[in-house]
Amino acid sequence: MGLIYVDPEGPDGDPDPRKSAKRIRQAFGRMAMNDAETAALIAGGHTFGKSHGASDDDMGPEPEAAPIEAQGLGWPDAGTGSETTTSGIEGAWNQWPTMWDTSYLNNLLDYEWELTESPAGAKQWKPVDEELQDTVPDAHDPAEKHAPMMMTADIAFKRDPELREIIEGYRDNPMEFLDAFARAWYKLIHRDMGPPERFLGPDVPEETMLWQDPLPDADFDTIGKREAADLKTELLDSELSVSQLVKTAWASASTYRDSDKRGGANGARIRLEPQRSWEANEPQHLETVLSTLEEIQTEFNDACSDDVRVSMADLIVLGGNAAIEQAAADAGYDVTVPFEPGRTDASQERTDEESFEALKPRIDGFRNYFDGEYDGLAEELMVDRADLLNLTPSEMTVLVGGMRALGATYQDSKLGVFTDRPGTLTNDFFENLLDMDYEWDATSGPREVYEVRDRETGDVVWEASRVDLIFGSNSRLRALRDVYASEEEKFVQDFVDAWHKVMTNDRFDLE
Ligand code: HEM
Repeated sequence: MGLIYVDPEGPDGDPDPRKSAKRIRQAFGRMAMNDAETAALIAGGHTFGKSHGASDDDMGPEPEAAPIEAQGLGWPDAGTGSETTTSGIEGAWNQWPTMWDTSYLNNLLDYEWELTESPAGAKQWKPVDEELQDTVPDAHDPAEKHAPMMMTADIAFKRDPELREIIEGYRDNPMEFLDAFARAWYKLIHRDMGPPERFLGPDVPEETMLWQDPLPDADFDTIGKREAADLKTELLDSELSVSQLVKTAWASASTYRDSDKRGGANGARIRLEPQRSWEANEPQHLETVLSTLEEIQTEFNDACSDDVRVSMADLIVLGGNAAIEQAAADAGYDVTVPFEPGRTDASQERTDEESFEALKPRIDGFRNYFDGEYDGLAEELMVDRADLLNLTPSEMTVLVGGMRALGATYQDSKLGVFTDRPGTLTNDFFENLLDMDYEWDATSGPREVYEVRDRETGDVVWEASRVDLIFGSNSRLRALRDVYASEEEKFVQDFVDAWHKVMTNDRFDLE
């Protein structure tokens, strides 16, 4: 862990355990660890090993600053054996640093600790009590003994009332501590691996954990080609527009993060909290769309005489596909968006609401949504999201242009919709973006909005955001824009392929 958690300073310049507790919570919270998991991990981890700060000699350059011949190895003078210096803090936490026990917790809770300095000059804590002196074996010399040490991050657990209660519980119930550590360790090491079907080997636990975003097995037969075709007709005949169907499927699938394989359309968690209430998903609007989809689902499932049923997760994706096929047909292209049924619907009880909040979009360049509080440049955040969605630059480009043409923007705003035929899968976005009849201008105002004016009349024709204009301003994206502006058929086919990729990013069951 980074040293910023070790030594956050208070007003007197000394390390401040309360600040340390706050930072630990922030860092472990980002990994969706609660207080009990965080305490188990750190107490369990610091049951073993030692820290290294034996000398105050200069350690030499770090890996990035080392000469090329060091081949990535830094700190050449960090010392070895009893001279080793890494963090600068020196010593072990307990008397049995190679054994699993509660001696770390006993030391921390049963003794008073005071601030001191390591030989390397780092701030650390030593026991006030004489009893603990000379009780810790030296890592190298069996004849030598030391006092244990604590870091400010360890003292934080003693000073924070809630964390203290947790570690006291662990100290008094060693089996509970062991179980909590085992579970939190398993989570720490596996939480970015995605659903259990991606796990291999005989040691995979039978139990699916809540942090694995569990999905139920289908207790019905999934729809086939004929049923999918019938449902597409139903969806297109309903009052739902192309934009509504596309936005709902996008909102459902685009939560996917390849970094930890969470999110995605499978499970249809868009109909559950917290996703149902996210501003980017236009909650009231979504409510209407979902209730129409539920009607279609119920009617279809009731009419099926056999075991075939459609899940909401499949229906939402099918709705997006149907809308795209319709919009492409309206532009004169006969395309089929590939569809692989087999998704199931998650339940609210088996959804970790708190940790799903981490997936909430601050901006969604694809829908031209901005929450107003995001930090950084909108276009950079769009690239970040595209990366999490596994998209190449051309896939990102074609999706943005296509979504605009379909009118699939947040609150159906006209921002970026450079077309007279919204809802039709044309390449108008790319054509009009750099049409020399127009010129772009920044507007003043709270939002960063740009206007395009007709060069002759001076009339405002369209409005755009930064994520729209980046496709003309950035040379690499502009090259992609040029391709799509000149080849509409390619644009349509590439849009369908990129869309299909987003819809199936989380289909590990198909791998
Ligand atoms: C806020 C959280 C944490 C902080 C600030 C922290 C800090 C540190 C520092 C500064 C060292 C000394 C490194 C050195 O000088 O060589 C260390 C060592 C160690 N940490 Fe942590 N740590 C944290 C969490 C954890 C967790 C979660 C685990 C495991 C579950 C863990 C396991 C260990 C172990 C086993 C060592 C000893 C390594 C050795 O013997 O060389 N730590 N920690």
